[in-house]
Amino acid sequence: MAVRRTKRKGSRTAVKAFDASQLGNWEQDVASLAGMLVHEVKNPLSTLNISSQLLLEELGDPESPRDHRTHRRLKTMRSEIQRIERIVSSFLQLTRPQQMHRDSVDVSRLVEDVISRNREAIELEGVNVLFQPMEVPRVAGDESLLHQAVLNLILNGCSAMSEGGELFIRVLDSTYRGGSAVVIEITDTGVGIAEETLPRIFRPYVSTTEGGTGLGLPTTLRIIRLHGGTILVESEQGQGSRFSIVLPAEGSA
Ligand SMILES: Nc1ncnc2c1ncn2[C@@H]1O[C@H](COP(=O)(O)OP(=O)(O)OP(=O)(O)O)[C@@H](O)[C@H]1O
Ligand SMILES: [Mg+2]
Repeated sequence: MAVRRTKRKGSRTAVKAFDASQLGNWEQDVASLAGMLVHEVKNPLSTLNISSQLLLEELGDPESPRDHRTHRRLKTMRSEIQRIERIVSSFLQLTRPQQMHRDSVDVSRLVEDVISRNREAIELEGVNVLFQPMEVPRVAGDESLLHQAVLNLILNGCSAMSEGGELFIRVLDSTYRGGSAVVIEITDTGVGIAEETLPRIFRPYVSTTEGGTGLGLPTTLRIIRLHGGTILVESEQGQGSRFSIVLPAEGSA
């Protein structure tokens, strides 16, 4: 933009131009300050967590009514501290610049691994997981981030089926933006998502789940976008939902 310079008589100072559009937006500054604050809160929180655990151990089995009350209050404190810790860690994961280690990933094997590590806990919730492995192109990606993304969607599927149900997981060949792609499809038979809620579920802190922070989906989307992919959602209320992670195949991004 042209800046008209008015030269004052006798003035020798050079005019310094400053274009305000060079500034980052303040939302970014606030987000990074919030990230720092949350990071600083982590250490005292973990001290509180350990101290409350030690106090509970010291108290042992409560006998008097007074001890019972103290025990109950300490347990409430501890579970709330742990809840704050979970919120803080998820927040950090969402705001921290994400480091990617790219490996050649066998997506079908990765999904199988996520399921086998969590099968017991999932089945305890009354959810039956059905997975059909398939040979698909490899993906250039970060195994542990992709593991986390798939697990988040599996956990959401389970939360949507509080009475239990079936979770169908498929891996298939596809195309995305004119190139070869791999799709991980996670379909539940749960409550489904209302049409008006659907556009909001990837926003931070949108949650209808008890004890949920609403950071699972934004974190998952962030991970998949880092891989050049996207997430598609189809849902019918009362019938269930299907979340499809689309990842460009290795060499086609
Ligand atoms: N498979 C699903 N079926 C129905 N609703 C879903 C499903 N997945 C996500 N949602 C809706 O989207 C919301 C946001 O999901 P998200 O994973 O971000 O948060 P959360 O699961 O509530 O908490 P957390 O941070 O522990 O993951 C959920 O609370 C729920 O309302
Ligand atoms: Mg979640």
